[in-house]
Amino acid sequence: MSDMTDGIQIASAELVTLEGVAIDVATSAGRLIVEERPAHLGVASTKSSATDVVTVMDQRAQDHLLGALARRRPGDAVLGEEQGGRAGDSGITWVVDPIDGTVNYLYGLPAYAVSVAAVIGDPSRAGTWRPVAAAVVNPVSGECFHARRGGGAWRRVGTGLSVPVTVGHPRRLGEALVATGFGYAADTRRWQAEVLTRVLPLVRDIRRLGSAALDLCRVASGEVDAYYESGLNAWDLAGGWLVASEAGAVVGGLQGAGAAPSADLTWACAPEVATEFGLLVTAATADLRGA
Ligand code: IPD
Ligand code: CA
Repeated sequence: MSDMTDGIQIASAELVTLEGVAIDVATSAGRLIVEERPAHLGVASTKSSATDVVTVMDQRAQDHLLGALARRRPGDAVLGEEQGGRAGDSGITWVVDPIDGTVNYLYGLPAYAVSVAAVIGDPSRAGTWRPVAAAVVNPVSGECFHARRGGGAWRRVGTGLSVPVTVGHPRRLGEALVATGFGYAADTRRWQAEVLTRVLPLVRDIRRLGSAALDLCRVASGEVDAYYESGLNAWDLAGGWLVASEAGAVVGGLQGAGAAPSADLTWACAPEVATEFGLLVTAATADLRGA
């Protein structure tokens, strides 16, 4: 048995292997960031803006992931949020976010995750790649969301058994609980706040939980009904994209449902209200970004 993904044939057994590797390395990196968190964790550096922080543990967790993946999958490439990555020749790239929700981690809010996804295509070029196996681990709650293409979406807590997750069933947009997030640049936040003024009056409520990877997994588990955000990088969205779509969510981008999610727009939604939600967030984003 094999899965044909955009012209690339991956044996089902290989997808199972990739999913297992994603679970193992994300879990061990999650353990590292909790157990070795310094007593006085500070901001080590900043990236795109003064609010886009990096802690020593972001880099240490990425180094840990690089080492673990080099041992288990020496021929694969790795692309991560922090410094360091590697080229490969297998056609698989591991797209990793060592701590998604770094601001929550800095403040000790228990909503951050390690996201590890095996993807095919070129993750540095939007629209040319897809995740095929992934794990998103919240090391504080012990939750591990995992999926492989065509295999459904699953949640395991601690050492328990994995249980399938499925999206919620809001009857109308007005009943949909919607998660979102904001970029780090003030100019971007200005128009993102405008987009929010179009969405908020039409939905049940908004949540800003602070980790895009977990937001997408919460769509998968029905803990929110929908999610949208602009400005995400491949590492923020790769794992959650697969988990959400395998759980039955409609996932899309600025071009609508089924378009690859990207920095322009990433959205995921329970099917019942996905048409309306997709039209709302794509139109609002297209109208207001850069305004
Ligand atoms: C951020 C989180 C946040 C989202 C930002 C991301 P980071 O990732 O996912 O929820 O709103 O757009 O950059 O910086 O914590 O890895
Ligand atoms: Ca991130």
